[in-house]
Amino acid sequence: MPSDLEDIRAAFEHQIALYGSVLVPDDSAPAPVADLAEPEAVTQPIAASAPIAPATRQTDQYSQINALIPADSPLLGMTSLEEVAHYVAHTKLIELDNSRQNPVFGAGHPTADLMVVGDAPGAEEDEKGDPFIGPAGQKLTQILKAIGFDREQVYITDVLKSRPPGDEHPTAEEFRGHLPILYKQISLIRPKLILCLGKTAGTVLLGLDTTLGAMRGTFHDYHGIPVLVTYHPAALLRNPNWRRPTWEDVQILRKKYDELTAS
Ligand code: URA
Repeated sequence: MPSDLEDIRAAFEHQIALYGSVLVPDDSAPAPVADLAEPEAVTQPIAASAPIAPATRQTDQYSQINALIPADSPLLGMTSLEEVAHYVAHTKLIELDNSRQNPVFGAGHPTADLMVVGDAPGAEEDEKGDPFIGPAGQKLTQILKAIGFDREQVYITDVLKSRPPGDEHPTAEEFRGHLPILYKQISLIRPKLILCLGKTAGTVLLGLDTTLGAMRGTFHDYHGIPVLVTYHPAALLRNPNWRRPTWEDVQILRKKYDELTAS
């Protein structure tokens, strides 16, 4: 939907202007391919190979992201995830907030080094108020396990905190309405690394207007935070051919994580 993408781009022009160059992934030998359906067969985390680049950990990078929140939003001054979750649960920011059973705020470690971002909750998530607990969530759990993470170690959320009725593709306006919540979550959690699941999450967060194929396989610099975009786990359920590229992506993710958390 090109007009939606244009909308998103226009809304985030100011942040696009802040993007630096694409971070170049390590060019070490490709790791073995494993079937993401069988995490137990998969390798250990890849060892750290490089120090943290100081430029990627400037203390003000999260303030920069916080500053993307509109000045008239109460989110701007909030200082804890609990406060934000309470606000989200009790505030109707967009039309979708009226039809949800529960807000799906996010779950996991409140200061996780790795943040995982999907697009929008589905039926199971809406029923329980937890992200990624349906079939796509089980696939995500498997993917994370395959690279040595428990769900509790990372922070998992979606751009949109309310389920679109009928799982319709959300509009750019809907994403825009909830995006400041994600900015706030990033600024409070302070992840060293972000994984976007699917083209939509990559498009909305990074302001990119391109194919998933063009987005994936390399790190994007989001205010100094490396962001990797890969296939959405729901896509892997539909097409097993995408497991292999996803596996390649999450291996470079793990390697980058180890580098960034080495000290
Ligand atoms: N798909 C998503 O993007 N998020 C969920 O929470 C569930 C499915």
